[in-house]
Order: sequence, then C-alpha cells, then structure tokens
Amino acid sequence: MDSTAMMKNSESVDCYATARDMMLTAKPAEPVYCLYRDRLATVAKRFVGGFPGKTMFAVKANPFPVVLDTIWEAGIRCFDTASLPEIALVRERLPDAELFYMAPVRIHGTVHDAYKTYGVRNFVADHPDELKRVLAETSAKDTTVFIRTAVPNEDAIYDLSTKFGAETEATVEMIKTVKDHGAEPALAFNVGSMVMNPQSYETGLGICADILNKIGLPIRHLDIGGGFPWAYPDIEAPELETYFDRIRMARDALPLAGDATIYCEPGRAMVADGMSLVVQVLLRKGDELYINDGIYGSFSESNISNGDVWYPTSVTRPDGTAPNGDMVPLTVWGPTCDSLDKLPKPVPLPADIQEGDWIEVATMGAYSNSVRTAFNGFFPNNMVEITNGRPPELI
Ligand SMILES: Cc1ncc(COP(=O)(O)O)c(C=O)c1O
Repeated sequence: MDSTAMMKNSESVDCYATARDMMLTAKPAEPVYCLYRDRLATVAKRFVGGFPGKTMFAVKANPFPVVLDTIWEAGIRCFDTASLPEIALVRERLPDAELFYMAPVRIHGTVHDAYKTYGVRNFVADHPDELKRVLAETSAKDTTVFIRTAVPNEDAIYDLSTKFGAETEATVEMIKTVKDHGAEPALAFNVGSMVMNPQSYETGLGICADILNKIGLPIRHLDIGGGFPWAYPDIEAPELETYFDRIRMARDALPLAGDATIYCEPGRAMVADGMSLVVQVLLRKGDELYINDGIYGSFSESNISNGDVWYPTSVTRPDGTAPNGDMVPLTVWGPTCDSLDKLPKPVPLPADIQEGDWIEVATMGAYSNSVRTAFNGFFPNNMVEITNGRPPELI
C-alpha cells in the first residue's frame, strides 16, 4: 500500500466494504488503520447535539486529516490544539475552524506565531509568567485567555492534575490581570482522562462557582476540558448523555454572564469508536505471539494503563476462515527488538490463533496513531476506509 498517497487526503484513502475484505484482498503485512467514518460522525453528532455548549475536538487524540474532515462535516467547529504543528495542520485543512491553543506551557515564540500567522485568538495559562508571554505576544484586545484552575482528578483513570492547574487565589489574580490588559478573561479546568463519574465535572464547576463569586466579573467562556470515557472490555463507562445532562444542570447554577458559552475538549470519546487496527501475527512460540505493532506503535495506551485498556478483537485467517478455539490469555510482543515491547498483560485470543492470522482490534481511534513512534524503523502508517462493515464489538 502506498501510505503517503493514502494519507494525503480523504479522497485518496482506499475503501473496502469490510475489514475482512481488506485483509483478504490487500493481504496486509503491515498494520492498517481502518476508518469507520459513519461511526466517527455519529459520536461527533452526539457532542454537537447533546453537549450544552460548544465542543472542541482535542486534536492530540487523532490528527489524521480524514478524521478532522469527518468531525468537521459532522458539525464540530472548534479545535483544541497543543502545539504549532497541530495548529498549522488544522488551519490548513479547515480554514474556517476556530482554534484554541490550550497547552498551558508552550515552546517560546509559538504564541506569537499562532496569533500572527494562524489567527489563533484563544489561549490558556496556569502561571503568571506564561500569562505574561500570552499577553505580550498577542494584541490583548481581541484575545480570550483561559486561566486553568486546579480541580481534583479522582474519578479519572489517567490523572492529569499533577502537571497543570492554578490554585484558586492565583486563578483569581490571573483573571484580574487578563481583564486589566483588556483581554477577555475565561476559566478552564481539566478533570483527567477516562473520567468514570460525571460527579467530577460537577465538582469542577463547583470550584468555578467559588472563583466566579470571588472575582465578581462577568465570565463569558468556561472550558470544562476533556476526559469523557469510552467503554473498553472490562471497563464500563456511563453514556455521554449522562455527562451532558449533569453538566447542563451544574452549568445552569453558575453565576456566569448571561451570554456565556461553555466548552468541552473531548479527545478519546470523540474518536475511539471510529477506527480499528488490523495487525498480523508474525510468529507464535507456544503461548507467545509476535505481532507487527506494539507499545512503541499503536498500543502505547494499553501500556500506560498497565493493560487495563484493552480492545474488542476478531481474528481472520488468510483463507478467510476464523479460528474457533476458546479464548485464552496469550502474551503479545510487538515487532521491535526491545524486550519492553510487550503488551503489559496477556491478551484474550483464540487458542488456535496462528502465524499469518490477522487480528482486527476495535475502538483504536484514540491515542494510537497520535502516539506511534518510528522506533526500530517501524511506523504504522497505512489507512483504509471501511464503508459497510462493523468492527468487533464489546461482549
Ligand atoms: C488540555 C487537554 N484537553 C483535552 C484532552 C483530551 O482528553 P481526553 O482524550 O481524555 O478527552 C487532554 C488530554 O491529555 C488535555 O491535556
């Protein structure tokens, strides 16, 4: 497969009716990302229709251009970007998108470039020195500056609170600084990633209520971050709409300006379901499998969750049949020569899986391609679109 051509734009992505068709036709020796565009659009529309405010897509979860296109077509207009390359990517691809540069600590000079070259007007800060940079490198008059305040991350599988977030007093001071410079002051928080209880957002909004009462200024923009979970095997997650309803009620109780907008920044929940990955078994040694992708490629998420995040799978043989053995736990190694390149827990797979078989791994749309490395020369970069099939489901 010519991955360069396929990745260039959505028009050049090869299409197959089902992932099985792709495997039996293309016989891929390299990993292949399979885009399920309808599934991706369905989730994006749930955010557009259900979240009581504006949804930004956190580009870091999946920056494939065709993913950005699909999300845009589904109605998402705001994009949470963490770096200048992400900003350039979205601006080039979607010239009318509203961009938010939401990394609280940035490479020097990039605020200026984001503002001047790419028209970014929304920034975040959680420290007075970074805030100073934002105010100096933009014309404050047309800039919105979110101050990211600290909130607990106790319901999150991935705690993001240790790195960013200002205490209440500092938040209040920085909001006043933003106002004094003539920029639009705004408030943000982040309750972590894979946040398993909507209560976390209510707690965050309660902390914002306290801040709003202390500053006594009308705040017109409040960003509640990402963190909405997706269900994986053995990890049940509440429906997105449960989060939306609870957030709507908590927002209604806040002393915000009358015309205020709240924002969310989902990454994982937006894209997890829309993409699967097809990998091939390179070799079997007893209960150990060697496959063509691993923790330095698309499976970094499984590694950092210590194997808690795993995925629904199905296996297809080169002759089109499926193994029919009982599911047994097998040790899975990636393709590099590094002995750390091993999935952290044995993975349930058919007992009779063998060399040459393909495994379709579902719900791989978040933090797979975006965290892959080229370690040892392996860089999974093939993508196809599946137009009619269904990926393996949770059982
Ligand atoms: C600032 C910010 N926004 C949004 C996200 C997206 O989080 P999630 O994928 O859990 O929705 C992250 C994740 O690291 C983040 O750091």
